[in-house]
Amino acid sequence: EKGGYDHFMLKEIYEQPSVIKDTYRGRLLADKGIIKLGGLEEYIPKFINADRIIIVACGTSWHAGLVAEYIFEDLARIPVEVEYASEFRYRNPIITENDVVIAISQSGETADTLAAIKLAKEKGAFVYGICNVVGSTISRETHSGTYTHAGPEIGVASTKAFTTQITVLTMIALKLAQVKGTISKSDYMMHLRELDMIPTHVAAALKSNDKIEEIAAVFKNATNFLYLGRGYNFPVALEGALKLKEISYIHAEGYPAAEMKHGPIALIDEHMPVVVIAINSNHYGKVVSNIEEIKARKGKIIAVVTEGDTVVRELADYVMEVPKTPESLTPLVTTIPLQLLSYHIAVMLNKNVDQPRNLAKSVTVE
Ligand code: F6R
Repeated sequence: EKGGYDHFMLKEIYEQPSVIKDTYRGRLLADKGIIKLGGLEEYIPKFINADRIIIVACGTSWHAGLVAEYIFEDLARIPVEVEYASEFRYRNPIITENDVVIAISQSGETADTLAAIKLAKEKGAFVYGICNVVGSTISRETHSGTYTHAGPEIGVASTKAFTTQITVLTMIALKLAQVKGTISKSDYMMHLRELDMIPTHVAAALKSNDKIEEIAAVFKNATNFLYLGRGYNFPVALEGALKLKEISYIHAEGYPAAEMKHGPIALIDEHMPVVVIAINSNHYGKVVSNIEEIKARKGKIIAVVTEGDTVVRELADYVMEVPKTPESLTPLVTTIPLQLLSYHIAVMLNKNVDQPRNLAKSVTVE
């Protein structure tokens, strides 16, 4: 049942090239320039005319929501707020009929997300669901939605659910951008072609597995990790830190790289591994400066870099390569080495990777 893998988590990490493809199969026709999402078509005007989109979710699904905030605002120019479902529901939030709420949930059973949906519906908002489990409560309670088609996710630590959620959210953003006219025809076509390449890129990123295992061996006894990223990769830093915490029980924090100087830099010394997403993007120069600041304080750098990178490779103690893709799609590839890093560290520490202590696959308590 684990398909020859030692753990469900590893199997699910390795399934990502195929399940990402399953997620967009029949929905993304890159050559024809078509994105067709059954649940979305008739509601496109609702999205386009919305005052804002509010995304509600928990945990890893909330991180997918944060990635979506960048892509929706960047490409479709629709204001987005991303909320922890638990905070949203208890805050007496301002919601109107002109808001569109997107609820993201792998299990489709998360109690706080479900309660946030009910509240949004009471206030008259249109609620769109992105779930993995077909027929789940959240998929039934939402007005419409899109399934991720990642297949069953058994490992408690969410991996393929995250990348397939981002795949769906990216398709929605591109579709809205096209209809609204906020993206040029050539940029739109380029994004579709590049999205269609993501399974190949993810497969390439997985090839670094052995190297990542070696890096894991070096750092497995660290007691703290810092994860840094900028822009689209800030949420990836949060997700990388969450993966490490939940399965290895090592304390880890994700931060926007620029925030380091506002506090966390005080933590850095030779015992602090810092995982930096330093891909070749708009933020490259700034991230390189952040790495230099960490080096100056003797922090150890593990960098996620674009294939062929030379500058960061010189500075970093260890690098994990990912293929080049447009910045808006990078979370789909930069996440992969971080999943593998946390997996190997947890295995080396003899932790129960698939069923970490105190955690459940669906959180049906509030
Ligand atoms: C992390 C993890 C949790 C879930 C969260 C939401 O790896 O699995 O943080 O992401 O409990 O669950 P869903 O997506 O089922 O609503």
